[in-house]
Amino acid sequence: MLFNFNSYKYARSLHRIYSRVHLNMPPKLELIAAACENMGIGVNGNLPWRLKAEMAYFTRMTTNTRNKNKRNVVLMGRRTWECIPEKYRPLKDRINMVLTSQSLNYGDDAIACKSILHALDVISEMQNEVERVWVIGGSSVYKSAMESPHFGRLYLTRIKKKFECDTFFPSIPNDLVLIEDSTVPQGIQEEKGIEFVYEVYERR
Ligand SMILES: NC(=O)c1ccc[n+]([C@@H]2O[C@H](COP(=O)([O-])OP(=O)(O)OC[C@H]3O[C@@H](n4cnc5c(N)ncnc54)[C@H](OP(=O)(O)O)[C@@H]3O)[C@@H](O)[C@H]2O)c1
Repeated sequence: MLFNFNSYKYARSLHRIYSRVHLNMPPKLELIAAACENMGIGVNGNLPWRLKAEMAYFTRMTTNTRNKNKRNVVLMGRRTWECIPEKYRPLKDRINMVLTSQSLNYGDDAIACKSILHALDVISEMQNEVERVWVIGGSSVYKSAMESPHFGRLYLTRIKKKFECDTFFPSIPNDLVLIEDSTVPQGIQEEKGIEFVYEVYERR
């Protein structure tokens, strides 16, 4: 056969990965969020729900790496950082980065960055240590990341119930389409009588 579509796709992904490493480009931004039916993500500086399995999914996705010598970045807004209970801060086995316009110093716990581009510059400098870059909220950080040319994927847990919220996931651009990812549990999940589904989106 002259042209094999699968090998073409394989060569294209290899080229993409190789170019990113070769040009010292940071990995793409991967967003992870959980939203309820009214697209709420938070209330009073907290999650509106307590779902252990969903939290374990967040931890597994953001922590696991293929290369055991690398770690993932978790990139978040200042308020999301402050919402993490102190005993769980910084999120362990991950490089914590916090976006803020203020001159804040988190010492060894986290790297403060002035913008997403600033964060990506810092990540480029530690390319050999970083595998994936997870954007973990909140609202405006998700929005900027989805609009960024560095956007890669959105991992969105859809919680099939309405909760009272004061913070919301931004509208999802029309050119994002659902894709499959073999590392994501399929079908309807359930905990404490609350149903939820793990979805993954990529730009068309
Ligand atoms: N369900 C979920 O998946 C999920 C995920 C994350 C968070 N949450 C919830 O969401 C709420 C917190 O989110 P939030 O939207 O209120 O706040 P946030 O996005 O975490 O933090 C906002 C702050 O981050 C900084 N910031 C944001 N974008 C920036 C940028 N491009 N450049 C520089 N600094 C930037 C600014 O800090 P300065 O004011 O210091 O400049 C801004 O005031 C909590 O209730 C939390 O529990 C839910």
